[in-house]
Amino acid sequence: MPHIPPEVIEEIKQVANIVDIISEYLPLKKVGKNYVALCPFHQEDTPSFTVSEEKQIFHCFGCGTGGNVFTFLMKYKQCSFYEAVEEVAERYGINLSRFKFSPEETAAYERRQKLYTVNQLAAEFFHHYLLHAPEAKVARDYLAKRGIGKDTIISYTLGFAPSKWDALVRYLQQKGMDLSLGAEVGLLVEKERGGFYDRFRQRVIFPIFDQKGRVIAFGGRVLDDSLPKYINSPETPIYKKGYSLYGAHVAREWCQREQTVMLVEGYFDLLSLHAAGIKNVVASLGTALTQAQARILKNLAPRVIVMYDADAAGQKAAIRTLAVLLPLDLSVDVLLLPEGDDPDSFVQREGKEAFLRYLHQAQPLLDWYLKQGEERTRSDLEARFTFLKEAMEIISLLKNPLKQEYYKDKICAMFGMERPTLDRLSQKQDPDNIFTEMAVLEEELPVFERRLVKFLLHCPEYLGHFSLEELLLEIKHPILRALLQKMFALYTKHQRLETDMLIAELDEVSRGLVSAWLMEEMPEDPEEVAQGFLFLLQKRRLKRLSEQIKEAEKAGNWEKLTTLLRQKNELACAFKRC
Ligand code: GTP
Ligand code: MN
Repeated sequence: MPHIPPEVIEEIKQVANIVDIISEYLPLKKVGKNYVALCPFHQEDTPSFTVSEEKQIFHCFGCGTGGNVFTFLMKYKQCSFYEAVEEVAERYGINLSRFKFSPEETAAYERRQKLYTVNQLAAEFFHHYLLHAPEAKVARDYLAKRGIGKDTIISYTLGFAPSKWDALVRYLQQKGMDLSLGAEVGLLVEKERGGFYDRFRQRVIFPIFDQKGRVIAFGGRVLDDSLPKYINSPETPIYKKGYSLYGAHVAREWCQREQTVMLVEGYFDLLSLHAAGIKNVVASLGTALTQAQARILKNLAPRVIVMYDADAAGQKAAIRTLAVLLPLDLSVDVLLLPEGDDPDSFVQREGKEAFLRYLHQAQPLLDWYLKQGEERTRSDLEARFTFLKEAMEIISLLKNPLKQEYYKDKICAMFGMERPTLDRLSQKQDPDNIFTEMAVLEEELPVFERRLVKFLLHCPEYLGHFSLEELLLEIKHPILRALLQKMFALYTKHQRLETDMLIAELDEVSRGLVSAWLMEEMPEDPEEVAQGFLFLLQKRRLKRLSEQIKEAEKAGNWEKLTTLLRQKNELACAFKRC
């Protein structure tokens, strides 16, 4: 992807107005200085999605999403930064193509485009072969036996790989493609003595698409019981595991219609449901759900029904999705299938109507999780406490404080506990637990640290007055530390700090914090505030030195003591002067 020179972004920003751009997607209403709308990134009844024309940023006070005009487009349209810039540039008549990219950047971009092309050609080749080749009858029969008809084959561009070692090799050659591209996307394997052979042979092929409908990878299943049952493309420059959900490109319109997305594990779970006419389905392909995939789900629908296998592994995987889905304010239900079933086997045996009837048994995943935890730990007090701690952490991920209260009371009732006991249990958090890392809420940040970083965001011209090293001694929260480091790095590089550049470099959580803070009023007298902070920092440094001095005395480390005393002296003098 071409790198866009900062001057270009600068030029675009000079003319672009975030209100114009967002208005094209959402009906914005002016309220005071700002504009508001119902947030497109979470479900709500009253608008908390806010756009500031003055600051050229947006922030949703309901779900915490925020950023600038480019991040809005990236999230709303699931597009890349480059595409977002392109769209804004186009709207304001700025021609991006006149900006030169370095030859390496252009080459890398063009190579990526060719990787997509190779994948597309291969998908068409396999698909055509499945539909028409006499040798593919075994595969057509296999799919028919599993209830997958032509409609579904076409919707997902399913294919079949010939049993030859060079079928795709020849096809790509014939299309004039450089075979090393095929190797780079994992379709071909390079032979030790030179040349290439087909990786996928005699397998049903499932092209994996991204949100924009481009083929980014492939899965392939054997027709019999041989092993491995499935093989998949390796990670490549255009495919990162955990960043896509199988079937999302087809499910999109159905999810919007149903306002619900079903999450299954396997290719065939999804395909069988599709063949039965249930099309708002995506598959995680048997791996743990990632945050990136959770965001795709959220963009598809506000409600997720998790439908994993009925076995213990499936249940565990379902529980693990809570930690990724709850922070996104998604409503998460679970459908428990009868013992021994997966969605594929269930819908094949029982049919669509029975499946839809059974679907009424979907229940909130959190409720089921508590219930099974209670039952599982009845005779083991130790396990019960461990479970309760974990449950409290999961509950703390709920965005809505009322819901949190509701579930805490529910736990008390279920486990026969008093609220104070439960609250005490949740105070001690286990830092290694996977759920704690998700619980990044603004309230968690220490007040002083938060104020200081917020001030520097509002008034970056004061960054030069502060030393990063000193600040890092005081600022302990990892998110704020990372943020400060980015701010200083940009400031040092460009002699100033542009919020847009900063926003572009942040992950979603930090971006949400930054946009929320930028929405707040600027300090009226920054000079005074800066002095106040500098004073406080010095005071803290003095205090730290005093503590270190005490320690050095105790340890009898005289050399260190002398150095520390001198430092303290110098600092105290400087202190008096200001
Ligand atoms: P079928 O036997 O065709 O019905 O597959 P399934 O979807 O029921 O398979 P299973 O429940 O065993 O696995 C769920 C998903 O995990 C599959 O759809 C694959 O995406 C993945 N998977 C299963 N087995 C393998 C394997 O051997 N290798 C790889 N890479 N992935 C696998
Ligand atoms: Mn199966």
